[in-house]
Amino acid sequence: MTDERGNDIDEADEARRLQENKQIDRGRDYKDPIKQYVRRRGWVPAARSRLEKTDPRKEHLKYFTLCGKLAIDVLWFYASESLLFKDGKGYPEVVFCEHFPDEYEKINRRLGRTSGIIASFEDLILNKDSEESKYFYSEAPFDVYNLDFTGGCFPEIEPPFSRTLDSIVTLINDLGQQENPSSFDIFFTFRAQRSEENRDAVRELRRNLNSNREAHPRFKELIEERFGEELEGLVDNYHDLLLLTLPKYLGRIGCEAGFRVECTHRFYYPRPSNHDPRYHIISFGLSFDWIEENRVRNRDLLQPVPSREILTSAYLEMMESLLVSDIPNVDSIRFSREGYRNEIESLLAACEE
Ligand SMILES: C[S@@+](CC[C@H](N)C(=O)[O-])C[C@H]1O[C@@H](n2cnc3c(N)ncnc32)[C@H](O)[C@@H]1O
Repeated sequence: MTDERGNDIDEADEARRLQENKQIDRGRDYKDPIKQYVRRRGWVPAARSRLEKTDPRKEHLKYFTLCGKLAIDVLWFYASESLLFKDGKGYPEVVFCEHFPDEYEKINRRLGRTSGIIASFEDLILNKDSEESKYFYSEAPFDVYNLDFTGGCFPEIEPPFSRTLDSIVTLINDLGQQENPSSFDIFFTFRAQRSEENRDAVRELRRNLNSNREAHPRFKELIEERFGEELEGLVDNYHDLLLLTLPKYLGRIGCEAGFRVECTHRFYYPRPSNHDPRYHIISFGLSFDWIEENRVRNRDLLQPVPSREILTSAYLEMMESLLVSDIPNVDSIRFSREGYRNEIESLLAACEE
């Protein structure tokens, strides 16, 4: 391989350089005030509410995260919000997962003695025989799973199914099948770039929305009010389609697994900017609260239990709220970007000391 002047280019060097450039870009993204807005206004209130709902003797969360090299979510949750426990050496109730070995090393250096797993999240959940997966399940359940993915939910290379979605569904089902299921929250972040996503999956999401429309007169009214009779409002707004259908789909999975599911927050923002968006980042959270009666039913006691009704009505409530509530574009919200940028810089500077 040669460059435009005819000089030899070492392919391995080139690949490394590309990877490094990407990482520099990502580092910038993690420090972006918009991302900090999502941490502060989306993640923190949901995490705090999860902590309040758990055992009152518990002072900190058990936290699973794809924290990336700067681990800002971990640092912020600890330093500013006191949501995590830190001993002199690291964060004993945090487990992080990272698929790139060089990034993994950087996280290790930043978080000290904190458990980490080098694997893709998808392998962690789906390859149950691997050591990494066994370790993850020996540490689960967590109170909060922060699945801050850098990629999309339906990569083009994976048709017709998405391994990422498959792994999320498997995790929710696994958590519902534990001996004493506990409640938890999951935060999701994906890149929404229609041109790079698997068309069958997108078609399937639209079909699913259509069938909801046909099945429930109330949803028909709400869906058409929001997106038009032909769903034309969804054609260009891929982020909107995902922010409606993904929480709805995962809400149904949670409901079937025995959890009352609520959507805690939804946001999106354009990248690289509002003027020249090439894609959007979508971010939403779901809380999964275990409905105790379900276990009575699972143990085949004769007594009738209302858990199915509770779950179904919670699911319908969630669906209605997904359809009526607005989804803020963080890039259009007025807030002190300078202030948010400074607080991240101070956080990172304090960590370097
Ligand atoms: C967006 S960053 C995390 C940012 C962090 N949560 C914060 O608040 O600043 C995501 C990290 O997880 C890694 N990652 C993304 N997708 C992954 C996957 N499917 N499995 C494992 N690691 C993944 C990325 O390499 C990156 O280091």
